[in-house]
Amino acid sequence: MRLSIDELHVSYGKVRAVQGVSLGVDTGRLVTVIGTNGAGKSSMLHAVSGMVRPTSGKVTLDGDDITGKPYHKLVPRGLVLVPEGRQLVAGLSVEDTLMLGAAAARMTNAEAHRQMDDVLSRFPILAERLKERAGLLSGGQAQMLALARGLMSAPRLLLLDEPSLGLAPRAVRDLFAMVSELARQGLTILMVEQNVRQALAIAEYGYVMDSGRIILEGQAGELATNDMLVASYLGVARDEKTGEETA
Ligand SMILES: Nc1ncnc2c1ncn2[C@@H]1O[C@H](COP(=O)(O)OP(=O)(O)OP(=O)(O)O)[C@@H](O)[C@H]1O
Ligand SMILES: [Mg+2]
Repeated sequence: MRLSIDELHVSYGKVRAVQGVSLGVDTGRLVTVIGTNGAGKSSMLHAVSGMVRPTSGKVTLDGDDITGKPYHKLVPRGLVLVPEGRQLVAGLSVEDTLMLGAAAARMTNAEAHRQMDDVLSRFPILAERLKERAGLLSGGQAQMLALARGLMSAPRLLLLDEPSLGLAPRAVRDLFAMVSELARQGLTILMVEQNVRQALAIAEYGYVMDSGRIILEGQAGELATNDMLVASYLGVARDEKTGEETA
C-alpha cells in the first residue's frame, strides 16, 4: 500500500510541530524517518493516522485522500500505527491484547483466530505467555506484543513510532530483525526512529527530520555515510554511565 504525504503541517496552538513535510513510501518498501527529540516525528505519524488533524497538507493511501480521517476508519483499510511507548494495558493478558488488534480491524471471530495463529507463529515467546498480563513482560517482549497487536489488524501499511525506545541492545536487534523480515515479506513500513545506525541498516530509504522539517533524504546506505549525519547523529556512542564506546 503506497503512502504519500504532501506539505503536511501540524500545530498545537502556537507550537508548529510539523512544518511542510512531504514524503512517500512505495508499496513493499521500508522507509525510516530519523530525528532527535521534539523533531515532530510522532506528530507527523499522528496526522497521517488521523489522531490529530493536520493544519494543512494532504495524505493519500494508494492515491485516495485520507487527510483528517479518524484512525478507527483507517485501520480496517490497512493503516496501522504501533505507537511510541507501546501503549499496552498492564492488566490485560497477552491474548486479550492481541484480540484488540483484531477488533480494531473489525474482524469476525473466525478471521481473528486465523490471524492469531498467523501472528503467534512469528512470536513463539508470546505464544508461550498468552495468559500472562502485559505488565509482567520484559521491555523487549512488551515491544514485540505491541508489534504483534498491530499485526493482528492485518496491516497493509505499518507505521512504527520509535519501536526500539528503551530496549536493551539484544532486544533492539531482535526487534529490528523482525521488522526487517516483515519488510522482506512485502509489508509496507514507515518507521520513525532515533536509533539512527540500526534504522538505516534495515531501511531502504531514509528521511532526516529536524524542527518539523525534512532536512535530508536519500538511500539509507548513502545517509549512513553522509558527513553531516555522521557528525550530528552517528558520533561515537558512549555508555551513559561508564563513558565507554558502545557502538
Ligand atoms: N499534544 C501536544 N500539545 C502541545 N505540543 C505538543 C504536543 N505533542 C507534541 N508537542 C510538541 O510538538 C513538537 C514535536 O513533538 P513530537 O512529539 O511530534 O516530536 P518527536 O520527534 O516525536 O519527539 P520524540 O522523539 O521525543 O518522540 C515538540 O515541540 C512537542 O513539545
Ligand atoms: Mg515521538
